[in-house]
Amino acid sequence: MSALFSPIELGPVALANRIVVSPMCQYSAIHGDAQDWHLAHLGQLAVSGAALVMTEAAAVEPEGRISHHDLALASDENEAALHRVIGFCRRHGGAKLGIQLAHAGRKGSAHVPWMGQRGLGPGEDPWETLAPSPIPFGDGWPTPRAATDEDLARLVTAHAEAARRAKRLGFDVIELHAAHGYLLHEFLSPISNQRTDAYGGSLENRMRLPLEIFEAIRGAVGPGIALGARITGSDWLPGGITPAEAAALGQELERRGCHYLDVTSGGLVPHAKIEIGPGYQVPFAEAVKRAVSIPVMSVGLIVRPDQAEEIVASGRADLVALARTILDDPRWPWHAAEALGAEVARPNQYQRAAPAVWPGQSYKGAANA
Ligand SMILES: Cc1cc2nc3c(=O)[nH]c(=O)nc-3n(C[C@H](O)[C@H](O)[C@H](O)COP(=O)(O)O)c2cc1C
Repeated sequence: MSALFSPIELGPVALANRIVVSPMCQYSAIHGDAQDWHLAHLGQLAVSGAALVMTEAAAVEPEGRISHHDLALASDENEAALHRVIGFCRRHGGAKLGIQLAHAGRKGSAHVPWMGQRGLGPGEDPWETLAPSPIPFGDGWPTPRAATDEDLARLVTAHAEAARRAKRLGFDVIELHAAHGYLLHEFLSPISNQRTDAYGGSLENRMRLPLEIFEAIRGAVGPGIALGARITGSDWLPGGITPAEAAALGQELERRGCHYLDVTSGGLVPHAKIEIGPGYQVPFAEAVKRAVSIPVMSVGLIVRPDQAEEIVASGRADLVALARTILDDPRWPWHAAEALGAEVARPNQYQRAAPAVWPGQSYKGAANA
């Protein structure tokens, strides 16, 4: 019996296996609206065999986008555009569907990555960015405005409103993005948060905004939807967030009704020295998992089926989220099922490529082992 292909529940939502498509910005939206690209991208992933497909980060207000081409869920138009995409995924795919709600904070007003990771210049329709403190992300990045009490109140409302839209769209899962150096991570880390009010200083104060927002989302959607958070296990910086702080945040989220945690790391500043290698963030998931009783996902350079199986079977994490791995091979769950002797759902249209009925199977060799 494969652990990776065993079912699990995220609160009210039952998943067929432990494979999650990690959120991946596509920088292909117009005014925050999903386009045909999103239909093709999320559509293929919804038939991939992964039990849960997360959308990319969707901004809760236009200024919460990273670039002009980020997805947003802040208007009726944004909602209608996603409705078409989600409708396709529902009709044709077996995967449960989740949306990641986000605000880019001081990493906003930037170019799309393939134009170089840098802030927009004066003639490029930049906008004023927001952060806990007026400290730029890095050299050459705009200095953000420190969020006022009014901003904080608006951010809570914007997240709740986006969550209401996500519920109307029929999402099974809503994930709050509190990692990768975006706004809520900026509040959590003492490196980017140097406030002296109730939202800065102690860990309790730095957690205040993310927890208020989580509670507002929970209040907006009620039961029936699984709620999760993507949190950072480490800033990879002296004086930054540690796995122990991540575990404490995980406990506070669990206490407030969070159904799962997705543990990642890094992204707060451009210069952090991250020790990258296969499964390099698994120890962070493990540290958080020891502190909570809700399921924990691991993500980051999880590439091989045997590696994913080991992470779940050993109990170091309950689920694996795949990003580049599944861009590289959108049939990864099929190939992993083959390698691990498990079954995975395929759409009817593709049944004829199933290993049991396709004579070509025996000629494929070990490329996917
Ligand atoms: C194209 C791309 C876009 C991404 N966009 C997001 C995003 O919207 N939200 C997020 O939390 N992480 C995002 N990430 C990070 C991934 O979700 C994941 O954490 C990271 O890539 C490590 O997993 P991997 O080694 O399987 O790629 C993105 C990664 C890629 C490659």
